[in-house]
Amino acid sequence: MAKFYATTPIYYVNDVPHVGHAYATITTDAVSRWHRLLGDDVHFLTGTDEHGLKIQRAAEEAGIEPIEHATKTSARFQQTWELLNISNDDFIRTTEDRHRQAVQKLLQKAYDNGYIYEATFEGPYCVPCEAYYTDDDLVEGNCPIHKRPVEHMVEDNYFFKLSAFEDQLTEWLEGDDPSISPTGYRNEALGIVKGGLRDLSITRTSIDWGVPVPWDTDHVFYVWYDALINYATAIGYHDDPDRFDEWWPATHHFLGKDILRFHGVYWPAMLLAAGITQLPQLHVSGFLLVGGEKMSKTGLNKIEPSELVEDFGVEGFRYAMLRNHSFGPDSDFSYEGIVERYNTDLANNFGNLVSRVATVVSKKCDGIGPAPTPDATLASQAEVAYREASKAWDGVQPSVALEATWRLIRETNEYLQETEPWKMDPGPEVDAVLGNALEVLRIVSILATPAIPTAAAEAWRRIGLSGTPADQRLPEAAAWGGYPGGLAVETGDPLFPRFKPSA
Ligand code: MSP
Repeated sequence: MAKFYATTPIYYVNDVPHVGHAYATITTDAVSRWHRLLGDDVHFLTGTDEHGLKIQRAAEEAGIEPIEHATKTSARFQQTWELLNISNDDFIRTTEDRHRQAVQKLLQKAYDNGYIYEATFEGPYCVPCEAYYTDDDLVEGNCPIHKRPVEHMVEDNYFFKLSAFEDQLTEWLEGDDPSISPTGYRNEALGIVKGGLRDLSITRTSIDWGVPVPWDTDHVFYVWYDALINYATAIGYHDDPDRFDEWWPATHHFLGKDILRFHGVYWPAMLLAAGITQLPQLHVSGFLLVGGEKMSKTGLNKIEPSELVEDFGVEGFRYAMLRNHSFGPDSDFSYEGIVERYNTDLANNFGNLVSRVATVVSKKCDGIGPAPTPDATLASQAEVAYREASKAWDGVQPSVALEATWRLIRETNEYLQETEPWKMDPGPEVDAVLGNALEVLRIVSILATPAIPTAAAEAWRRIGLSGTPADQRLPEAAAWGGYPGGLAVETGDPLFPRFKPSA
């Protein structure tokens, strides 16, 4: 069985979950669910990044211990992912013992292999980024990302010999494997490597909120070098090497473009330094923007996922996130965009198709769903939808996959509009039309499962099928003709009631 190990970035606990975080997690969730439909053995990891100066200061401001602060905010992330029906198999916190041990083991290896050395470091530091910059990086003396003043820091540090990996990283990035997608981000990482790599300061003595350096306990590892290792921790790097070896080659990291440098340059080099030569695949998204600005804690535009769930339900929100934003480029987020998408695709198209078909089956076929016909035009339209959706999910393009799926729904609504089964007399003609529509509903329920698993399962149940669409296996289950006919079809409340913004 193929393996698929999917990871989200681990979220800083100085911030509460916002829509930007939800976007990253929902995308990873949907792609993981797609791989489960393919029958892959999936392991889906998310978690929280809890060390570093940023967290230490946030705790000080709140007048509590860092661990207390981390535990509280980490719980908010876990609750949000539960609310959004995220199907993660594990949730890692970097303050866990399993993680401390893995960090120490991996970096000790890099040290033993001669890739870590001690020296004094001095330079501008941005606390929100948790990163040192050079004077050249700064924009009018400010952090290039946060546009806020930096602090001058002087520290005795251990350094990681990043410069030793230029050739290996270039080879990896230029290789045949799509190591980083979309390609623009791979070129960006390549540009960073080709621009020349300087060694990195990877430890701190100025703070103690971190993982101690095993060979010199006055130091803790700088938060990024601790954080990246979470991906290895969770699959047994420290305590179950066989498990690690099984999963590691199937690693897919999902991340935002702001952390490409860490995942596409530093992390692969750390792995190589520790003797891990198989490097992960990266899937990089742009930012969700509100009024042209990245949605974030410091922006005034922060929106909590729970507020949108109140208006659109979990699945309305999930669907709109996946469908409205093409994975890769920056994308404008708007409330009106969700309303429009929800009403058009979920209320008017999917929801309407489910109710319409069930109502006509109840009137014309005594509530018993007929079987589809083999030569229906819809059969070839369904085949195209499957082919396109499958290619798009494999290529991490949820918006394209859902567009292909919803095209099939629209085509089926048009088919009903043209054939008007509600005007037909009971008999073989109406049976054929409704059987075909039911077969589309069966296929669509499977294809929509990564985005809207609960509504898809409900549609599946209403047309009389047993089990759930999530239990089906692709590609076989998408083949035309799977709806057996003779099943009791249920009418019910609208799956997605039309949303009317309150005045
Ligand atoms: N803790 C680090 C990641 C360590 S991974 C080993 C971090 N955390 S974060 O909470 O600041 O961001 C986590 C992810 O959320 C990043 O991939 C970031 O790009 C993403 N997003 C945060 N705001 C976002 C938007 N407005 N839009 C899309 N994604 C955004 O970085």
